[in-house]
Amino acid sequence: MVIDLRSDTVTKPTPGMRKAMAEAEVGDDMLGEDPTVNALEARVAAMLGKEAAVYACSGTQGNQLAIWAHCRAGDELLIHHDGHITWYEGGAAAVVHGVTCRHLSGPGGMFDVADLDAAILPVDQHYCRTRLVCLENTTNRGGGRVWSVEQAMRVADRAHALGLRTHMDGARLMNACVAGGYSPAEVTAGMDTVSICFSKGLGCPMGSMLVGTRADIAQARRGRKVMGGALRQAGIVAASALYALDHHVERLAEDHANAKRLAECLTGVDGVTVDAGGVQTNIVHFDVDPARGTGAQLAAALARRGVKMYSTGPQRLRAVTHLDVGRADVERAAEIVGEVVGEGFADTAAGGSANPYSSR
Ligand SMILES: Cc1ncc(COP(=O)(O)O)c(C=O)c1O
Repeated sequence: MVIDLRSDTVTKPTPGMRKAMAEAEVGDDMLGEDPTVNALEARVAAMLGKEAAVYACSGTQGNQLAIWAHCRAGDELLIHHDGHITWYEGGAAAVVHGVTCRHLSGPGGMFDVADLDAAILPVDQHYCRTRLVCLENTTNRGGGRVWSVEQAMRVADRAHALGLRTHMDGARLMNACVAGGYSPAEVTAGMDTVSICFSKGLGCPMGSMLVGTRADIAQARRGRKVMGGALRQAGIVAASALYALDHHVERLAEDHANAKRLAECLTGVDGVTVDAGGVQTNIVHFDVDPARGTGAQLAAALARRGVKMYSTGPQRLRAVTHLDVGRADVERAAEIVGEVVGEGFADTAAGGSANPYSSR
């Protein structure tokens, strides 16, 4: 049996979700006539206390629609150096929009007002025009951390006072809400736009949403068309998201408890270090002692024993819990990590399964 902890994107739709998809009422969404897409857009906009929303194919597309709505060529956006937009979107900010990313630092993939202030450039012909501040919630490379409402609001207020726009990459926004005990509207109150993913912890086969003002979303909708993301009978997949909002939100707490459990079990493994107390949601990072081998070698050795994780740095591995793994699975996975590290894996060839998250 394989225990797949590479990402929460590996889940398969449940029978209930598939039934909802099969029964969805559909129409031509590019003409605004898909009732299921329309219902999902209205529901998510209301849930976040925003005016409008547009359904997108992927989280990457949702983020890029936000950049489309806020920026033009020659602008720059500010983002944490571990941000998904800067690491894992194929350079789309530059390729699609002519926008550069400048990086802020801070613990757990988050930053604060002082970091923002330090990054602000004077208005001068030499510089890019700073236009947008992007926050990620939860943070992916930052280790699944949750922005506090206060910190997010502080950063948003400062950004707005500086004349900047704000975007939250909320690929795992519902994880943040469940873990932090926040409502989606309060977590995103200071944001001009928010993207959320249905294909991560919520367990859908695809789909994201960009939410914001009517004007920004109208602009984003145009960008979606330009990027080839305007769809037809998309209600088939939008139905999975409506189903997930009804059935898969509260259960995220189980994924968080399983991640914590995994981290606790790994604490007992000689040769790895893990910050179990820092696990807030469904992402666990742990580091293997360089004397034992590299993160990539350990990931390859684990894969041979049926435990799949990504190596995300020279010594680092990432494990993500989700709908399709339970407590017994994470306990078994930690046991196998202990066995593999104990037996030694330094002669394992790194590589094997493709790893989009490797830092090398
Ligand atoms: C924080 C974050 N933003 C955006 C995305 C992009 O989502 P997608 O893979 O659907 O394009 C991901 C994917 O893992 C992510 O973790």
